[in-house]
Amino acid sequence: MTDLVRMEHINKFFGQVQALNDVSFNVRESEIVGLLGDNGAGKSTLIKILSGALPTSSGDIFIKGQKADIRSTSDAIKYGIETIYQDSALVTQLSIARNLFLGREPLKGPKFFGRMNQDMMNEVARDLLRKVGISKPIPPTTPISALSGGERQAVAIARALHFESDLIILDEPTNNLGVEETQGVLRFVRNARDSGHSCIFIAHNIYHVFQVVDRIVVLRRGKKVADDIDPKKTTIEEVEHIITGMLEAPNGA
Ligand SMILES: Nc1ncnc2c1ncn2[C@@H]1O[C@H](COP(=O)(O)OP(=O)(O)O)[C@@H](O)[C@H]1O
Ligand SMILES: [Mg+2]
Repeated sequence: MTDLVRMEHINKFFGQVQALNDVSFNVRESEIVGLLGDNGAGKSTLIKILSGALPTSSGDIFIKGQKADIRSTSDAIKYGIETIYQDSALVTQLSIARNLFLGREPLKGPKFFGRMNQDMMNEVARDLLRKVGISKPIPPTTPISALSGGERQAVAIARALHFESDLIILDEPTNNLGVEETQGVLRFVRNARDSGHSCIFIAHNIYHVFQVVDRIVVLRRGKKVADDIDPKKTTIEEVEHIITGMLEAPNGA
């Protein structure tokens, strides 16, 4: 099967600092990949390259086997890649419904979006909130500022689902969330995978990663040091040791 995304021999320099050193990284269809590594390992840099927020110094990206030219976040969106940052790009004073469609109408949506009425937008929003698994009924007219951190992540994920992103990238989505909210985000991610989307999941907390991912990749100081770690066949301690360099990965890069 062709990989959904394949990044090959990626190098990234910030002046003298080499943030990524010959990193190759792939994501398969309907797969959640956990990207782990200590602070400064290069995780955010790698996914920013994939989401068009940063250019590479060298290396290639392939989407469904075709070489991709990603120079901006809107290029990435056209390739079906949606990134949800820690403080996701929602406009807090606007409603959930408005945020779901914000700025996307001319990019990918069908032509009638321009004339889409509020009722229809609210209806789509209600349906999406149900799909990501928000259990309590939140009116789509609610401003984002009234939502909890976990609910905001859910809206961001709902947006990615609606625009049929093939790949949803989550960089530290559970930071600053409480226990229940975190469980909610993990559930949204599982729902996204179960409906055929792939995810890259970056989180500080390895316990969260273990609960949700199909495969773990580890970066250390800009290099990939492990790939294909199956969370069902390894322990959290072992992965921690690979992250810190106490242990060389048996199936490493
Ligand atoms: N915009 C930037 N300018 C200069 N150095 C950067 C920039 N972004 C990241 N770096 C450096 O690149 C390395 C990797 O950072 P990052 O990808 O943010 O790591 P992680 O997300 O794994 O914590 C670090 O040494 C960091 O200081
Ligand atoms: Mg980071």
